Amino acid sequence: MTNSLSRRSFLIQSAAAGTSAALARSTFGAAKRVRVHNPKSPAGAAGQIWIGGDLQVNRIGFGTAELGGAQGWVSPSDAAARRAVLRRAVDLGVNFIDTADIYGPAVAEQMIHDALYPYPSDLVIATKGGQIRPGALSAGSLDGRPEHLREACEGSLKRLQLEQIALYQMHWPDPNVPYEDSIGELAKLQQEGKIRHIGVCNVGEALLAKARSVATVVSVENHYNIVSEQSDDIIALCEREHMAFIPWSPLARRGQGNAAADLRLAGLQALAQERHIDMPQAALAWLLARSPVMLPIPGTVRVDHLEDDIAAAKVRFTKKEMAQIG
Ligand SMILES: NC(=O)c1ccc[n+]([C@@H]2O[C@H](COP(=O)([O-])OP(=O)(O)OC[C@H]3O[C@@H](n4cnc5c(N)ncnc54)[C@H](OP(=O)(O)O)[C@@H]3O)[C@@H](O)[C@H]2O)c1
Repeated sequence: MTNSLSRRSFLIQSAAAGTSAALARSTFGAAKRVRVHNPKSPAGAAGQIWIGGDLQVNRIGFGTAELGGAQGWVSPSDAAARRAVLRRAVDLGVNFIDTADIYGPAVAEQMIHDALYPYPSDLVIATKGGQIRPGALSAGSLDGRPEHLREACEGSLKRLQLEQIALYQMHWPDPNVPYEDSIGELAKLQQEGKIRHIGVCNVGEALLAKARSVATVVSVENHYNIVSEQSDDIIALCEREHMAFIPWSPLARRGQGNAAADLRLAGLQALAQERHIDMPQAALAWLLARSPVMLPIPGTVRVDHLEDDIAAAKVRFTKKEMAQIG
């Protein structure tokens, strides 16, 4: 039982839709579809995609893991510079911002609020809960217990000063908690109107199916780029089911060290030279051409790098060029 066509999830959906519609009015106006304000913007050049069928976003977003810093503290001057990056992203037409309560921790969400509140009415903020220690995963880094996810969601609503989070994502599956219990709690928060749409991260097909057995999942955020192609099956499923696929670490800054990946990277480097673009732009253009459900979220603390990344939105790789890269 995996698809929202099933009677039970249809009931969940309509119940959630009923309740969240009431509250949605406060966040996004009556639960109508919200279109991108400026599809002609630099970010709009990448085209648009619908999140959950009712929130339209330009297909190049912005990731905020870097903004939060690692020690939970950012100097006032750095904080000011990073707020300027957020405002510049919105000026360039970015209306999808990926964040998490653990970025900082709690710093990136607060920074998004301080830089952008009151938010443009088409801005989709996608946050996450379930990781409780920043950085590389280790024992004790995750907490997928329903009570923790509820607390985490409430904390994000408060920091972002929102009544409803447009897209709330389960950060990582917690091996110590049945995944259905974690996602089940997000479905309850959705029924209460605190979450509009539910997304999952770092999943394979089996866990995605478990999540979809208890809630309507509208997006998957996995590690994916030109050198790490572990999610091709998930992307195919997202295309079939009209879900968004959000590749994290889209710029492929860290090689994978396998021959096939290095060959693809070399192919991309050659094409980037031919097209007079740099590698971050080529990596993003490759993702945008790879699938129409792709929603890359490059991250940076620098305005010049942001402008460089967003400029990739207008780069089109042909089918022949994509085949050339392999
Ligand atoms: N769901 C998850 O588990 C998960 C895990 C990791 C990340 N994420 C999300 O994915 C987002 C992006 O992933 P990521 O930060 O790992 O990797 P990324 O966006 O692929 O790369 C970010 C790095 O690239 C640099 N950079 C960005 N644009 C550049 C440019 N034009 N030229 C040169 N360097 C450039 C940044 O440095 P500067 O700041 O110096 O520009 C930063 O070090 C994160 O912000 C976060 O929102 C999610």
